[in-house]
Amino acid sequence: MSRPKISVIGAGNVGASAAFQIADQELADVVLVDIVEGMPQGKALDLHQMCPVIGSDVNFIGTNNYEDTANSDVVIITSGIPRKPGMSRDDLISTNTKIVKEVTENVVKHSPNSILILVTNPLDAMVYVAHKASGFPRERVMGMAGVLDSARFRTFIAMELGVSVENIHAFVLGGHGDDMVPLARYTTVAGIPITDLMDEATIDALVTRTRKGGAEIVGLLKTGSAFYAPGTSAVEMAEAILKDKKKILPCCVHAEGEYGIDNIFVGLPVKLGRKGVEEIVQIDLQESEQEELNVSAGHVKELCDIIDGAGIL
Ligand code: NAI
Ligand code: 2OP
Repeated sequence: MSRPKISVIGAGNVGASAAFQIADQELADVVLVDIVEGMPQGKALDLHQMCPVIGSDVNFIGTNNYEDTANSDVVIITSGIPRKPGMSRDDLISTNTKIVKEVTENVVKHSPNSILILVTNPLDAMVYVAHKASGFPRERVMGMAGVLDSARFRTFIAMELGVSVENIHAFVLGGHGDDMVPLARYTTVAGIPITDLMDEATIDALVTRTRKGGAEIVGLLKTGSAFYAPGTSAVEMAEAILKDKKKILPCCVHAEGEYGIDNIFVGLPVKLGRKGVEEIVQIDLQESEQEELNVSAGHVKELCDIIDGAGIL
């Protein structure tokens, strides 16, 4: 049986971290693509040489040529510029729209049946760009943000309670911005809602830290943004797809009436399997939670309107 093929576009910090994780899980052969000559080739060779040590038989190609990506099963798109201190994710919009459009067009030419996982920021708007540029159905175009934001929330809860991160399930919905919607009611520790384990002030502090989780790391790194957790989060989605796990994860998807939101890309609970987005899972939201989700979705719409207005697509 041949191994699946994942192309990772953008061999920078997130792309290389994702490639590392794919090899570590022996999930797929990897094609690492970047616009910079030599760099993806060098990183691919280095990653390949790691494989004997970790006992992984995946193959690596580093390239500047999309022909090498032909017939990819999954494509993880990380190409673009990251945030610097003082920048919001939205400040990246014009540069990254052009990059994501061009990259997507190249990808679909060679892998018309692939499933796209976007990582580039501003995330939800970039999923919109890739959806438009690819012409793919919504099942095959999604964005990674909720897995990362939920992982951050899970980490902070584990730190607070002194329990294993494995015991914690969390849902962060909405757009990948400061108005994301961490759902405390659906966040549990070994099945126990956190609302039974922590007072409101503590939960509020952890929610705020989660919302600002990306900026906290940008502030510390000063030269770029987070990459280990983002790369690994994208690979969790790829694994759910390639192994047809039917795993329910928060992903950025095209809402078509679900949660009362229409024609907007936003983070919702999704069942991921070999066909990609196989279902948007409906959970009951309280009025205040729904309002927060609507605000977050409205913000994504504003960004997509800016992109439409700029006439780039
Ligand atoms: P990076 O700067 O380390 O890597 C980006 C790579 O994209 C560079 O190697 C660059 O040469 C490449 N690139 C630029 N234009 C290209 C093109 N036209 N074709 C192919 N490659 C091209 O940045 P990093 O840290 O890897 O972040 C990548 C993106 O992911 C950023 O937009 C960042 O904001 C976003 N991000 C999103 C997260 C999420 O949760 N959705 C989390 C972390 C980062
Ligand atoms: C993050 O949340 C910058 O979106 C990136 O780390």
